Amino acid sequence: MKIAIGNDHAGVDLKQYIMQNFKEHEFINVGTDSVESCDYPDYIHPVAKAVQERRVDLGIAICGTGIGASIVANKHKGIRAALCTNEFMATMARRHNDANVLVLGARVIGMDLAIHIIEAFVKSEFEGGRHQRRLEKIEKIEKNERLL
Ligand code: RB5
Repeated sequence: MKIAIGNDHAGVDLKQYIMQNFKEHEFINVGTDSVESCDYPDYIHPVAKAVQERRVDLGIAICGTGIGASIVANKHKGIRAALCTNEFMATMARRHNDANVLVLGARVIGMDLAIHIIEAFVKSEFEGGRHQRRLEKIEKIEKNERLL
């Protein structure tokens, strides 16, 4: 799988650990590799763009809490970014929400849990059906259309 991965200074170590642990995936690293303080929008925006433009299959966005990265990624049309702190959330984010960006909080979860979360996210598939209808409503919100 081709994955865009981006992070601010808080996510450098976790990003490197992830890339070392998944040799089967091709990572496009758009994050910083420096621990100097920086601004997460600069490094999360390229993740969302890569997913939006279908240059990659999925995105992984990392900041300290995952909150800033979630806010930035979800500003992009067509991006469904899910901040996950356990495997269940990662599985459901794919099955029910068709999430296309996984968000991780490097200061919230341990590195090995992050690996399990990514495994769950990557292997799970969107179930469609009633969930598709809900995604269509999200698209309507993006287009400023009426829901009901
Ligand atoms: C950086 O200190 C921190 O604010 C950032 O990584 C993130 O947690 C923001 O939501």
